[in-house]
Amino acid sequence: MFDTSKMNAADSLLEAQKIAFGPIIFQCARLLRDWGIFELLQTTKEALSVSTIARECNLSEYTVKILCESGYSMGALTFTNEKYSLTKIGYFLQNDEMTRANMNYNHDVNYLGLFYLDESLQNEKPIGLQKIFDTDEPTIYPLLTKLPSKAKKSWFGFDHFYSDAAFTSLLDIMKKEKIKTMLDVGGNTGKWSIAIASASPNTTITILDHQAQIDEAFKCAEAANVKGQVYGQAIDLLDHTQVFPSNVDAVWMSQFLDCFGENDIINLLRRAKNALNQDGKVYIVEPFWDRQSHEIGAYCLINTSPYFTALANGKSKMYRASEFEVFIQQAGLKIDKQIDGFGFGHTLMICKSA
Ligand SMILES: C[S@@+](CC[C@H](N)C(=O)[O-])C[C@H]1O[C@@H](n2cnc3c(N)ncnc32)[C@H](O)[C@@H]1O
Repeated sequence: MFDTSKMNAADSLLEAQKIAFGPIIFQCARLLRDWGIFELLQTTKEALSVSTIARECNLSEYTVKILCESGYSMGALTFTNEKYSLTKIGYFLQNDEMTRANMNYNHDVNYLGLFYLDESLQNEKPIGLQKIFDTDEPTIYPLLTKLPSKAKKSWFGFDHFYSDAAFTSLLDIMKKEKIKTMLDVGGNTGKWSIAIASASPNTTITILDHQAQIDEAFKCAEAANVKGQVYGQAIDLLDHTQVFPSNVDAVWMSQFLDCFGENDIINLLRRAKNALNQDGKVYIVEPFWDRQSHEIGAYCLINTSPYFTALANGKSKMYRASEFEVFIQQAGLKIDKQIDGFGFGHTLMICKSA
């Protein structure tokens, strides 16, 4: 993964410029997509001149030149005989759902706040969140449903894009576990709780999260006709003196523990363990960057970590599975089984009391 050892000096210097100009390339690619230039070139399936693109997209020729020349340099467009056409990179920027979710999230949630990455790292606080979204909150989570509408849509779009894909295949396994009582810790707007409630009519689930997320989850549960199976308890999960409801068959933690620093993860796992009945299990679902089958997955995950620093809470990150193995052990749990490859590269770790 990420082996650059065979690159020559000129190629390496070019790659260094791609990093140096990264923010500019990003914004031009976004506008090529959002202002319809990629779409036009895809639909017409032929190379088009600046004047044609300008006329069809209702843009000035100056705008088209700025964006298309950058598009050419980033490899999203070809430029031959004064005409532009779409490449495979341009095709993916326009059509690939993952690229779209990543780009929207990076623009609407992260872009301005990342300017404060240095201060955020130095203070272990999300200074980007506080400056850009004008708040004193120590984390993004109580604010999620109150973010400006584009940021809210892109945050949930990003989160759900990855977890939804994993949930479909996780359901097949979890249905067979015959769970009666489950805690969905950090259950957010109830996507998982509703999915498992619909698939297993004998399962009741209690979501532990901020009140605003639980309110949203209740609305969704009602719409999905599983209101009687989905409960909620508002809780500050960072207050480790607050015990979880106990004697449950399962504690579910999906795409959740990465929202916390190492000590908090260990404490949350301990509280999860203490909530279990005698045969109960903790189910951890995480996209670990050392368990990805392709470097695309690892690249996206590693570069999601600075969001956690500058925007989310100043202390968490996307982890490696090997780091989690240590946290699990320190919390007094042991891994009973682990399965990789759900959705876009999530791992399920099933843990029991040690
Ligand atoms: C990344 S989302 C996980 C969503 C969901 N489990 C999934 O798989 O898509 C993390 C969730 O944890 C909740 N959360 C984070 N910190 C929290 C805290 N201190 N107290 C309560 N809930 C918290 C957030 O509100 C959010 O709903």
